[in-house]
Amino acid sequence: MEWTPDPRELADLELLLSGAFQPLTGFLGHDDLHAVHERGTLSDGTPWPAPVTLHLPEEVSAGDEVSLLDPEGVPLAVLTVSGREPDGLTSGPVRGLGAPEHGPFARLRRTPAEVRAELGGRPALAVTMRGPLDDLTEVIATAKELDAVIVLLPLAYGEAGPGVVRAALRAKEQLPEGTLVVSVPLAPRDEPEIDLELREHVATAYGATEHLAGPEPITLPGPPHRRGLVVFFTGLSGSGKSTIARGLRDALLELGSRTVTYLDGDVVRSLLSKGLTFSRADRDLNIRRIGFVAAEAARHGGLAICAPIAPYAATREEVRELVESVGADFLLVHIATPLEECERRDRKGLYAKARAGLIPEFTGVSDPYEEPDDADLTIDTTGVSVEAAVGQVLGALRSGGWVR
Ligand code: ADX
Repeated sequence: MEWTPDPRELADLELLLSGAFQPLTGFLGHDDLHAVHERGTLSDGTPWPAPVTLHLPEEVSAGDEVSLLDPEGVPLAVLTVSGREPDGLTSGPVRGLGAPEHGPFARLRRTPAEVRAELGGRPALAVTMRGPLDDLTEVIATAKELDAVIVLLPLAYGEAGPGVVRAALRAKEQLPEGTLVVSVPLAPRDEPEIDLELREHVATAYGATEHLAGPEPITLPGPPHRRGLVVFFTGLSGSGKSTIARGLRDALLELGSRTVTYLDGDVVRSLLSKGLTFSRADRDLNIRRIGFVAAEAARHGGLAICAPIAPYAATREEVRELVESVGADFLLVHIATPLEECERRDRKGLYAKARAGLIPEFTGVSDPYEEPDDADLTIDTTGVSVEAAVGQVLGALRSGGWVR
């Protein structure tokens, strides 16, 4: 079978394959994890500080071979399953397929063996970095004292990865000739002591005789008017979502300070989600597609306005997480016009048809709408003008600093 591990697992896979996690050669099973947790060793007593795990929801048994793919579907390695727990934890050795490496700064992702060969037995001071090194004096002094080659190891993982590598390349300019920069996709571990021990292990694999851990980055998010934002309207059909969303789009275009991507429910269903039904699975897929596009716009600092019904709380939450994972903000606006009012207006005549049984699974009539309990703004449009409703949303954007 084939499986695409999540980004953290893929990062660990790369380090297993490169030898940076030596003596590990595969993902850990229950017994090793227990020993790591209790004693900081594998079950055979070999020192090892941190969990290195893979979860495979699909059924596999010992001896099975699983192709591990990157997100684009390129096979990276073969896992020979040696154990599997009921929660999906799957252990076993991995064998690399020599797939070409890509991604930013791929040329700087060298194996420990290559780096050790280049060091040729000279003492080395490794500096693991998760952010810029604002003070190089300690690094320079330590290297001088040990007569060591400096090896900067930017721990490039996730969105911040390329920035950390750039910080290492900048630091190199200020450091003695011969300083090496090697990018290592080491995902951070939750507990700081374990993270530090794992960094030491990896540094040692790269030939370090001494290790310095760079400072933790202070992440200062940009000012809100430069940050990406997704304004996500949810509400029943006929609640006024689209009208308010359009009004907001127009008001923002008039102000001119932000670029706007507009993803109305009906508009999306005419192209991006054309052919999807109103089953739960298709509605979820529709919302995930909208969320994906909105997050891409927001990733680059854009403002996206979405206005689908989005009846399910879990799917709205998924979109919120996706958007926040790209460093953008997410604002959920619940247009809470009651069903009776939506039905009274019945602009498109759909409620009448739904009541007559002509439209199955109609939200609010024969299909659920899960009221949000996490809305950032709630507007009942009963007796409220469109201008006033748009004004409320714009007011929230102003007071949050997203629009000036
Ligand atoms: S969602 O549930 O997937 O978020 P979406 O916002 O894209 O729905 O589409 C809703 C629009 O589709 C409604 O405004 C209405 O015009 C139309 N529609 C057609 N059939 C249904 C249905 N069974 N339930 C809700 N809306 C429907």
